[in-house]
Amino acid sequence: MKYRRFGKSGWEASILGFGCMRLPTSDGMPISEHIVEDEAIEMIRYGVDRGINYIDTAYTYHDGRSEVVLGRALRDGYREKVRIATKSPVWMVEKADDFDRFLDEQLERLQAGPIDYYLFHGLNKKRWDDIRTLGLLARAEAAVEDGRIGHIGFSFHDVYTSFQEIIDGYDGWAMCLIQYNYMDTENQAGTRGLAYAASRGMAVVVMEPLLGGNLARPPQDIQAIFEAHEVRRSPAEWALQWLWDQPDVAVVLSGMSDIRQLKQNIITANTSDARSLGASEHRLIALVRGRFEERAAIPCTRCGYCLPCPQGVDIPVNFGLYNDGLMYDDLLVSRFRYFRFFTETERAGACSGCGECEERCPQGIEIAGLMPGVHAVLGEGKPYPGGDAC
Ligand SMILES: NC(=O)c1ccc[n+]([C@@H]2O[C@H](COP(=O)([O-])OP(=O)(O)OC[C@H]3O[C@@H](n4cnc5c(N)ncnc54)[C@H](OP(=O)(O)O)[C@@H]3O)[C@@H](O)[C@H]2O)c1
Ligand code: SF4
Ligand code: SF4
Repeated sequence: MKYRRFGKSGWEASILGFGCMRLPTSDGMPISEHIVEDEAIEMIRYGVDRGINYIDTAYTYHDGRSEVVLGRALRDGYREKVRIATKSPVWMVEKADDFDRFLDEQLERLQAGPIDYYLFHGLNKKRWDDIRTLGLLARAEAAVEDGRIGHIGFSFHDVYTSFQEIIDGYDGWAMCLIQYNYMDTENQAGTRGLAYAASRGMAVVVMEPLLGGNLARPPQDIQAIFEAHEVRRSPAEWALQWLWDQPDVAVVLSGMSDIRQLKQNIITANTSDARSLGASEHRLIALVRGRFEERAAIPCTRCGYCLPCPQGVDIPVNFGLYNDGLMYDDLLVSRFRYFRFFTETERAGACSGCGECEERCPQGIEIAGLMPGVHAVLGEGKPYPGGDAC
């Protein structure tokens, strides 16, 4: 295993971290509560035996079972070999005391001593405002003081401006967890966010390096582009190598769902290095990114000029989810996010068709006409199984 400095702390983290959100399940449903415990424990211990020393979980993963199973995996001397990160379910925290109640429950579930990194889960602008209103940073600091947690961090799902505001708003962040991969360079925190957090001495941990698996199983035309390159790697390897090529990335978390994936990702980690990809390899990734983007149906660049919408519809994010569903042939995930991350007024279904936004769109997109179709596709059916996980 290879290791990198974890932010400004002296600690060296394994470049591959174990994400406990996609452990093997007996019903085959991702993130369900029915974890195949023996297999999950074997996988976690296999990873630790090969040098993984950073493990991520959360209050909500696998309906609360992820923390329990992780705690069991870390018995028999494994706890001392790793640092664990888990997350406060901030959207369930209604008053300051709830923060401590959840934290104490998590310590109980894990049975693994203090939590090394305690993250505010899935921050966006609104949740960040709520945290400050409720005084939760002071609660987290008190938990560091009394030894229940080691360090404070956050995971993030929003746009770059909110990311910068969160970082600038508190001096005590040790680390952050961002969604980052070769398709998200301009999306979420993006490449700018990675550089910004690293420049502030924070450790940057990456989640969704394969976009939840979408980049590991590209459509046939994109698979053919990879196969035509002189360097032979699987699509998953290309995505991971692209991340480790960047020295500001401290840890890449992978949510591996079987031991075969774990073994492959360990091998990939061991053959990676910062700044090791050549010009033709970067051109390949740019070509693949372009091919994925061509599959998008709505030419929205997510510039946000159309906002604000008088109804509160989050136009770029609705179009983004719709496009993502088509780009990766995975409408299920887009539907899940549509229900999970949006309030009703932010969804395409709230559009009144007034057309006010259209004159502000530099791409000339007929937004009002498209919204009902977007809602029909994303608002249909049941939200993603495993409901409240991320
Ligand atoms: N907001 C948050 O805080 C948040 C949100 C998301 C994730 N996370 C954390 O970050 C971790 C990583 O994110 P993620 O689970 O979305 O990671 P990911 O690597 O983008 O997706 C994991 C999926 O990729 C596929 N995969 C992994 N290795 C592979 C390989 N070698 N070959 C082929 N396919 C492979 C598997 O899909 P299949 O099972 O379909 O084969 C696996 O379930 C999570 O486990 C969780 O701990 C946090
Ligand atoms: S057309 Fe729809 S999305 Fe555009 S401003 Fe009017 S209500 Fe908002
Ligand atoms: S202005 Fe047009 S291109 Fe920009 S985010 Fe809005 S719909 Fe997309």
